Amino acid sequence: MASIPRIAVVGSANIDLTTFSSVFPRPGETLFGQRFDLGFGGKGANQAVAARLCGAEVLMLAKVGDDLFGDATIRNFASFGIDTTHVQMVKGVSSGAATILVEPSGQNRIIVVKGANDLLNPADVDAAAALLGTVDTIILQFEIPLQTIYHTVRFARDHKIRCIVNPAPALPADLASLAAADYFIPNETEAELLVGQPVHTLEQAGACATALLEKGFRRVVITLGARGSLIAGPEGSVHVPAFTVTAVDTTGAGDAFIGSLAVFLAEGLSERESVANANVYAALSTTRVGTQKSFPKRADFEAQRARHGGPAR
Ligand code: RIB
Repeated sequence: MASIPRIAVVGSANIDLTTFSSVFPRPGETLFGQRFDLGFGGKGANQAVAARLCGAEVLMLAKVGDDLFGDATIRNFASFGIDTTHVQMVKGVSSGAATILVEPSGQNRIIVVKGANDLLNPADVDAAAALLGTVDTIILQFEIPLQTIYHTVRFARDHKIRCIVNPAPALPADLASLAAADYFIPNETEAELLVGQPVHTLEQAGACATALLEKGFRRVVITLGARGSLIAGPEGSVHVPAFTVTAVDTTGAGDAFIGSLAVFLAEGLSERESVANANVYAALSTTRVGTQKSFPKRADFEAQRARHGGPAR
């Protein structure tokens, strides 16, 4: 039997305050929404939980505040069996917090206050080097300082550890400092911002992926929501269709994709099969409300995949 993947996430942890509403206020206006949900989120934490639920051993590097949410966040990681040795509580700052508005279609809008996430520094990565050096894969996103991300990409390269960079949320970044990553995985809006060209059609996604390859990335995957994903490398690009579901809340689907993809790749599945599986895992996460709490366990994912005849390849 293949060994269990060991995955580290260097990233954010937030508290998600989600309001479901069919109407959104104008300045000065107060409206009633239909439903509220409080949950553990943050792109890094979500990706760690997805990887853990898919069967990996997971190490989390993160910072939380010394408020109501910090200790609860650490306990939440521990409840999943995620290694919290390098999750630190910082005095005098808030934990990361995300205000999320969800439309009836499941589409969301998010405002994140980074709080303690913004204090995760290159020195914290160095302090975790002994453990970090033992993993198969390191995953990064953009809710922590960019300098920490660049530093961790270099760490992964120097230690020959697979590195996945998910540039979410969209921010201008020094792509040359990220190009040593093995996988660069933006969604359409992130790809648009980073490359400066539109990504509305599959052809445009292909052109954008090519532009990223020309900037030095080895493998690019652009996630396309309900249209699936596009994989690109020097040999060209291939579209991997989505798994069709009825979405109620798409929040965290991108994180479900990244966390599960890291596991499928580390298990040795082909890239295309890994992406097809991650498309299914992400789609299933949209059928339930919330982020981490919407992610299926590996057995549920396998059962659903089998019931529907497996992912489109
Ligand atoms: O990708 C979804 C996540 O984005 C939410 O959990 C929220 O915390 C924001 O980071």
